[in-house]
Amino acid sequence: MTDPMSALPTAVQWSHVLLAPRLRAGDIVVDATAGNGHDSLFLAKAVLPRGHVFVFDLQAAAIESTRQRLDDSGFSSDQGLTLIHAGHEEMSARIPAEFHGRIKVIMFNLGFLPGGDKNVITRTGTTMSALAQATALIAEDGILTVVAYPGHEGGDEEGSAIEAWMQTLSSTEFEVQKLAFLNFRATTPFVMWLRKRSARPPHTRPASD
Ligand SMILES: C[S@@+](CC[C@H](N)C(=O)[O-])C[C@H]1O[C@@H](n2cnc3c(N)ncnc32)[C@H](O)[C@@H]1O
Repeated sequence: MTDPMSALPTAVQWSHVLLAPRLRAGDIVVDATAGNGHDSLFLAKAVLPRGHVFVFDLQAAAIESTRQRLDDSGFSSDQGLTLIHAGHEEMSARIPAEFHGRIKVIMFNLGFLPGGDKNVITRTGTTMSALAQATALIAEDGILTVVAYPGHEGGDEEGSAIEAWMQTLSSTEFEVQKLAFLNFRATTPFVMWLRKRSARPPHTRPASD
C-alpha cells in the first residue's frame, strides 16, 4: 500500500502547507467558506487567542458544524472568533472597517459542503465579487488561497474564471501562482494563491547641488 505520507499534497493540503509558515499568533484571518470547519480550525490554532478569525458560510449547517469543531478544540466566540452566516460576497460589509487592510490571510475552499446539500455550491459571480473584495481587505504581504474543484457542474467554469482574472492582476501589486497535478484527470482540484506585494519605497530624488 502507498504510504500516504509520501504522496504529494492534495489541493487542500497545499493550502495549509503554503500558509502555515506565514501565519503568526495575533494575525487577523478569514475563512470565506466554513464548510465543516477544517480550515477554520487550522486558522484558529495558528492565530488565536491574540488574533481574530472571521468565518463565512451561506449555510446554517456549515456554520453549526464549524462552531462545533472549534468549540471541541476550545475556541469560542468571546475569544477572537466571529462566525457569520452569510455569503462571502458580503465580506467588506460584514468585517468591521477597523480590520480592512489588516487581514493576513483569506482562504477560499470552493464547491459544496461535504456531507451536505450538493446543490448549494459556490457560484462564479459571487465568488468573483468576494475575491475582488478580498484583494482590497488583505494587508501588504497578505495572502489569498483558493482551492478550486473543476469536477462538479459549474466548478470548471468557476475555476477558469478565477484563473483568468488572476492572470490580469498587476504584477507590481500581486504575485500569483497555481499548483495543479499535471498527469491526473482534469477534474482534480487545484490551488491558486496570491500575495499582495509591499508598496515600493517612495522614489528618492538625486540630491540637488
Ligand atoms: C468545500 S466546502 C468548504 C470546506 C471547508 N473550508 C472545510 O474546511 O471543511 C464549501 C462551502 O462553501 C459554502 N458556500 C457556498 N457558497 C457560498 C458563499 N457565497 N459564501 C460563503 N460560503 C459559501 C458551502 O455552503 C460549503 O459549506
